[in-house]
Amino acid sequence: MSGPEPNVALIAAARAAREEAYAPYSHFQVGAAVQDEQGRIHRGGNVENAAYPQGWCAEASAIAVMVAAGGRRIVAAAVCGVADEPVTPCGGCRQKLREFAGDDCPVWITDLHTVRATHTLGELFPNSFGPNHLKAAP
Ligand code: THU
Repeated sequence: MSGPEPNVALIAAARAAREEAYAPYSHFQVGAAVQDEQGRIHRGGNVENAAYPQGWCAEASAIAVMVAAGGRRIVAAAVCGVADEPVTPCGGCRQKLREFAGDDCPVWITDLHTVRATHTLGELFPNSFGPNHLKAAP
């Protein structure tokens, strides 16, 4: 497979985070892990809610954990889900990742045992809107 060498620790963290997810309604557990600019790994799972739309994704959990720890850049990310298709980040999570990550940020898509796909954030979310756009605001 082309692309960067798999970040084994990050992928393992995403798999562990999936085990910690709270998904009693969809039964679709997802885990995510992000590596920050200090090399630290932060992880989280999706957290659902009886008021279904109020749940949030694994990526949001992992990013919140990173920000709480003082991390401000995502240098690599991994998402773990189990489905026929590779479980890529939803649209909203691509925007959330993009806040802290550049187009070149690798995103490993894994299931329990296999890395199913490797993308950059720019491939997943091209021509995105981001913080730089606001710098031009009057
Ligand atoms: N989910 C994530 O956690 N991340 C994604 O990128 C895709 C979807 C969660 C949300 C919901 O709890 C469950 O998967 C089913 O959509």
